[in-house]
Amino acid sequence: MALPDGFLYELKERSDITDVVSGYVNLKRRGRNMVGLCPFHSEKTPSFNLYPENGSFYCFGCGAGGDVITFIMKIENLDYIEAVKFLAQRAGIEVPENSYDDGMGKLRMRIFEANREAARFYNKKLYEPEGKEGLDYLYRRELPDNIIRRFGLGYSPKSRYALCDHLRSLGFKDSEIVAANLAFRSQDGRRIVDRFSDRVMFPIIDLRGNVIGFGGRILTDQKPKYLNTSDTPAFKKSANLFSLNNAKNTGERTLILCEGYIDVIALSKAGFKNAVATLGTALTAEQAILMKRYADEVIICYDADEAGQKATARAISLLRNAGLVIRVLSIPEGKDPDEFIRNKGEKGAAAFKNVLESSGNDVEYRLTKLKNKFDLERPDQKAGYMLEAMRVIASLDSSVEQDIYVSRLSAELSIDKASINADLQKLKRRREGEARKQEYKKLSTELSGRDDKINTEKSKHTRAAKAEEMLIAFIVYNNDMEKAASQRISPEDFVTKFNSRLYSYIINKIQEGVSPSTTLSRDFTADEVSKFYAILHGYNSQTATREAMNEYIDVILEEKRKLTPEKISEMTPEEIMASLKKRKNKY
Ligand code: CTP
Ligand code: MN
Repeated sequence: MALPDGFLYELKERSDITDVVSGYVNLKRRGRNMVGLCPFHSEKTPSFNLYPENGSFYCFGCGAGGDVITFIMKIENLDYIEAVKFLAQRAGIEVPENSYDDGMGKLRMRIFEANREAARFYNKKLYEPEGKEGLDYLYRRELPDNIIRRFGLGYSPKSRYALCDHLRSLGFKDSEIVAANLAFRSQDGRRIVDRFSDRVMFPIIDLRGNVIGFGGRILTDQKPKYLNTSDTPAFKKSANLFSLNNAKNTGERTLILCEGYIDVIALSKAGFKNAVATLGTALTAEQAILMKRYADEVIICYDADEAGQKATARAISLLRNAGLVIRVLSIPEGKDPDEFIRNKGEKGAAAFKNVLESSGNDVEYRLTKLKNKFDLERPDQKAGYMLEAMRVIASLDSSVEQDIYVSRLSAELSIDKASINADLQKLKRRREGEARKQEYKKLSTELSGRDDKINTEKSKHTRAAKAEEMLIAFIVYNNDMEKAASQRISPEDFVTKFNSRLYSYIINKIQEGVSPSTTLSRDFTADEVSKFYAILHGYNSQTATREAMNEYIDVILEEKRKLTPEKISEMTPEEIMASLKKRKNKY
């Protein structure tokens, strides 16, 4: 079952793509279109384009493209039906009931519900006799009741069946509890066992207020110290941050990035509600881009140990790529923000504020780190430091910024600024050369189709696939030529299966007299839709003529005829017969 075409048509009419996208991207008009920084990858110059005329978007940088529904799917991390509901609610229209198969959406809803009940259960246990150890633990860490409430903290009982029994009594099926990763199936497969037991529980809440997972800390110094929910249909670790739901509401556009749950909570208690943490993994590019939606500046506040410093270096590069301004805080006396604030007792908040205010930016942080590695009294080491420092400086985008650090370096090392600049120019030229080489490599990979994850046959049949794509784009831009094309070629004549399916879909829609783009996102996956828009935007519609169309068709038919033995071996007997028959008919 599928959502009716008419409903989708109305939904799109009432969901103006410019309005919707403006809520997430700062758009500027350019001619008939709008441009902005792409929310789906890191970039500093805009390659995200919005086409109000046909209700689509396309990013020339990362190839993401689609209609308003695809946009919401991608940016809100929703599946198709959820995105439709999201937009329908926004537009104030009803989604026709029973008109779609929403198995995955339903499971996600059940997982959210099970998680919410689990969070309630864990929190209640904290205040029952069996949860005493958990509560004592939190009190020992100076987390009082109001903070426990604010973060919905809890305790998972020792019994390995407590939560399962409780959720079952509320009507949850074993399969749902397991899908939520709240339990796993025992070795003999006969029953399900709680995943978390005898741990202090930290619920992870998404931006819409759903409980999507948990972190659980053991009370002793056993291992693993933290256990986190694995990815489920409702939870993707790499795309969420702990407490972003709170941090996004402070109205500050600055986020403090910490290592752990406890750090975030300790900071919140001290009045810094804009702290977030990753969920038991290293920072990802996705999380950096997510932070950019709510902040312009990120203060990295990782542990002072070696692991924390390694993680800082990694975070700097990801956050910079996402276009964020970065400051790096080094925590004196103590390992992490939680310890620092606690050590200071009453004065914790004020002391942390001082450290925050004196934290330097990421370039200063990197240069200081470097400097500590060298003995600047020795000339060879001084030269080594200068070279490494210039690498850092050369990687900066702004020449004003570069100039500032060149001046500092010159003063620091008593080296003439002009000679540092001369070396810097050399370094920059080399970097630009490298960048161009990378660009060229990327382009040639694209052209060869080696990287094409949607049309996996493209690399083997580059020439045919190229011609197919051009024919597809041509027909989309020139609906009136469909008849002429169909007289010469049918989708079965296509060499690659994906293009054949896409072409068939498009000409059917044109024959029905509706625009293919209205329903495309219903009938193709989000990545396939992106591929469709990549095909359209890779085509120069200005040069499109009937002759060009005939050439594409010639190429496809010619390639189809070249049945190599290798290709025949891949075909089913029926396909071979069909293709032989077709050849006979043509000649
Ligand atoms: N972490 C994890 N698994 C572990 C250890 C750590 O997932 N075995 C993650 C957790 O998200 C944790 C973060 O890494 O919050 C930071 O680890 P650590 O500094 O060891 O924890 P703290 O937050 O300092 O926790 P505590 O003070 O309770 O030791
Ligand atoms: Mn820590």
